[in-house]
Amino acid sequence: MVTFLLNNRLVETYKNPGMSLLDYIRYEADLPSTKVGCREGDCGACTVMLGELTGEHVEYKSIVSCLTPLVNVHGKHIVTVEGINLDKELTPVQKVMVDNAATQCGFCTPGFVMSFTSYCLSHERPSIEGAINAVSGNICRCTGYKSIERAAADLNQIIRDKNLVNPVGWMVEHGYLPAYFLDVPRLLGGIHPLDYTAPENSTYIGGATDLMVQKPNHILNDPILPVGALRGLKGIELDGSRCVIGAATTFNELTHSDLLCSIIPTLRNIMPFVASDQVRNSATIAGNIVNASPIADLSIILLSLNAEISTSLNGNMRIQPLREFYTGYKKLNLYEGERVESISFEIPSPKSIFNFEKISKRKYLDIASVNSSILACTEGNVITSCHVSAGGVAPIPTYLFNTSMFMVGKTINQETFEKANTIMQAEISPISDIRGSADYKRLLLRQLLFAHLSKLFPELLKVTWL
Ligand SMILES: Cc1cc2nc3c(=O)[nH]c(=O)nc-3n(C[C@H](O)[C@H](O)[C@H](O)COP(=O)(O)OP(=O)(O)OC[C@H]3O[C@@H](n4cnc5c(N)ncnc54)[C@H](O)[C@@H]3O)c2cc1C
Ligand code: FES
Ligand code: FES
Repeated sequence: MVTFLLNNRLVETYKNPGMSLLDYIRYEADLPSTKVGCREGDCGACTVMLGELTGEHVEYKSIVSCLTPLVNVHGKHIVTVEGINLDKELTPVQKVMVDNAATQCGFCTPGFVMSFTSYCLSHERPSIEGAINAVSGNICRCTGYKSIERAAADLNQIIRDKNLVNPVGWMVEHGYLPAYFLDVPRLLGGIHPLDYTAPENSTYIGGATDLMVQKPNHILNDPILPVGALRGLKGIELDGSRCVIGAATTFNELTHSDLLCSIIPTLRNIMPFVASDQVRNSATIAGNIVNASPIADLSIILLSLNAEISTSLNGNMRIQPLREFYTGYKKLNLYEGERVESISFEIPSPKSIFNFEKISKRKYLDIASVNSSILACTEGNVITSCHVSAGGVAPIPTYLFNTSMFMVGKTINQETFEKANTIMQAEISPISDIRGSADYKRLLLRQLLFAHLSKLFPELLKVTWL
C-alpha cells in the first residue's frame, strides 16, 4: 500500500505502484487543475510540489507528476494548486501572475504557480536568477514570457524578507499557504516506511525520469523496485581521498551539496543547463549512468573525473572504472539484477582544473548535441595529467583515452591543439541524426577541445587557432 498526504488529505492506495502521480491526481483524486501536456517532462503543466520530512521540518521541491510513479511518493506530501488555494483570496504568487498578465489561456498557469511556490519555500535567498531557474521547466504558449519574468521580479520583491530558516512558517503567516501546512510534519511522521517486497528481477527505478518516458508500460505491468526507498543509497561523503556519491542521489542534491561544490566549484554553474529544476529534483546519478545515453551529462562529467562505479548482486560487491562500464550502444557491464550502489572518484588536487561544455539547440531544458568534460593538472604551461570525455560522438559516453594520454607532458600551443584534435577525431564515430550531421558534431567537438584549453590556459588563448 502506498500512503501519502495529498494536499490536506491522507491517501492510502493499492493502485498500481507504477501508475503516474499525474493520473492518480486527475483521475482517482479528481483534482483537475494539474494539467496533462506532454507526459514527457518537457512542458511543466503537470508540476506539483513534493514535501519530504527532514528532521522536524518538511522540505519542498517541484517535480513533474507525469514522470513520477506512485511508489516514489510514499511518505511524502504532494501539493497541487488546489492544496495552496486560500478560502477567498489569491495567494501572493497567484496575484503576481494575474497582476502582470502572466496568464492568458491558463493551461500552463497551475504549473508556473507550483514552481514559483516551491521556489518561495526553498531556503534560497531570493534572486531573479533563482526565480527564473525555478520555472526553467515550465513552457507557456501564450504570454511570450516577458510578463512571466515581470511576475518573477515582483515575487522576488515581496519575498525578500522571507525567513530562510523556516520558510513554511513564514509563508503560512504571510498568507501564501493554508494553515494546514503547519501540521504536515506530524502527519508525515505518522506514515510507516514503505512495506513493499519487490519480486526478484524487478526493474530498479530511481527518479523514473527516463523510464517513465521510455518504458511507461513496463513500469505499469512489470515488478519495480524504487531504489530511493533503500537505505544507504543517498548522500555524498568523503572516504579517505575519495568522494563517494550514493546511487539514488538526485541532480539537485548534487547541486546543493556544499561538500561536492567545494570539490568541483563550477558544478553550480553547470547544473542549470542539465534538464529542468523539476527533473533535477527527481533524476538520480545512477539513472543517468545506467540509462547509458551517449549524451548523458553526468556520465560525461564522471568519466572525466575518472570515476569508479560500485555495484552489488546478491550481496556481492564489485567495483569497476566507469570508462569500462559501457560496452556498446545501451550495453553495460551490469548483470541482470545487479544494482548500482555508489559512484566514487579521487578528489582532484587543488591545482587541477575542471571544465564541462555542452552544446544544445536550446540553452535550457535540452539534451546535448555534443558535450565534453576535462580534468587536467598543469605545472607552468605543461599538462601533467589529463582526462577528457565526450558525448554525442560515439554509441556510448566516451572516455577519450588516446587524446588524454597524448596531452600529458605537452605544452599548450597551436601544434599541440591540432595534434590532439587529430587524435581525438580518430577516437570518435559520430552519426548524423536530428541533433546534427556527423561532420558538424566533429567540428563541435574540436571547438569544445579549444574551449577546454582556453579555460586551462587563458593567457595562451589565440583565437586565430580556430
Ligand atoms: C525533460 C527531460 C530533460 C532531460 N534533460 C537531461 C539533460 O539535460 N541531461 C541529461 O544527462 N539527462 C537529461 N534527462 C534524462 C534523465 O533525467 C537522466 O538520465 C536521469 O539521470 C535519469 O535518472 P532517473 O533516476 O530518473 O532514472 P530512471 O528513469 O529511474 O532509471 C533509468 C535507468 O537506470 C536504471 N537504474 C536506476 N537506478 C539504478 C540503480 N541504483 N541500479 C541499477 N539500475 C538503476 C533503471 O532501471 C533504468 O534502466 C532529461 C529527462 C527529461 C525527462
Ligand atoms: S505533462 Fe508535460 S511535463 Fe508533465
Ligand atoms: S497562458 Fe496559455 S499556455 Fe501559458
